[in-house]
Amino acid sequence: MSEQNIFDNQEFFDYYRALRNNPMSANNVVEKPALFSLAPDLKGKTVLDLGCGYGEHCVGFLNLGAAKVVGIDISEKMLEVAKNENSAPGIEYLNISMTDISEITEKFDVVFSSLAVHYIEDFDKLVKDVCNILNDGGYFVFSQEHSLTTALTTEDYWTKDADDEILHYNLTTYTQEGERKVSWFVNGIVKYHRTFSTIINTLTGAGFKLEQMLEPVPSEDIMNQIPNYKRYIHKPDFLFVKVRK
Ligand SMILES: C[S@@+](CC[C@H](N)C(=O)[O-])C[C@H]1O[C@@H](n2cnc3c(N)ncnc32)[C@H](O)[C@@H]1O
Repeated sequence: MSEQNIFDNQEFFDYYRALRNNPMSANNVVEKPALFSLAPDLKGKTVLDLGCGYGEHCVGFLNLGAAKVVGIDISEKMLEVAKNENSAPGIEYLNISMTDISEITEKFDVVFSSLAVHYIEDFDKLVKDVCNILNDGGYFVFSQEHSLTTALTTEDYWTKDADDEILHYNLTTYTQEGERKVSWFVNGIVKYHRTFSTIINTLTGAGFKLEQMLEPVPSEDIMNQIPNYKRYIHKPDFLFVKVRK
């Protein structure tokens, strides 16, 4: 199975970098705080970050006391930024696809993944591989694009009134799982839609116990500063799951 490596596309990479440089990006004001709120005690623990991107979270895990952090990513461009901007003793960056983690012989106490698992077609295999790579009692904490977002097969997300105010989200094709080709900065980005029940049943079926889920939204104060974030009133953008082996 060959994975798309869209973050190595220069045009996409440049747009994404600009987005992430914005301190008020949804990554900074919604995703990152939610992910870290789910982190178990990391003191002395070994951590694997799947789809680590720039490695910002890896530094965060180290700062929370992790003994060792391994960040893996399929994109050489993302890893180059990680190595240049977020290197530290105790962090190792590897160019490995998360579809190949069964080849890693080491075990970890905690596996994190931020906004990357929706790029993986075979979620069942990924979850089993994560379970195998975790020590007993270890945690898997991940975020992904929310299932209500991945569901759509069109770019027609919102119904708005004459004043351009959102009336409602146009949820379609939720029950039809599988590949989606979307435009986000560039055309033809491949993602995979899975329903809530598939996500949770895959995790529990592999032997994980569900500990917590989050569907975070920006604070009212942030929604007032950035009116576009009022869309979160109708639909969360991110789904977080914390499970334990
Ligand atoms: C939206 S970015 C998130 C980066 C980082 N986790 C963060 O939150 O800042 C998704 C990342 O997943 C990586 N990715 C996509 N498919 C992957 C795969 N099969 N194996 C490893 N990484 C992958 C991309 O290259 C990209 O760096």
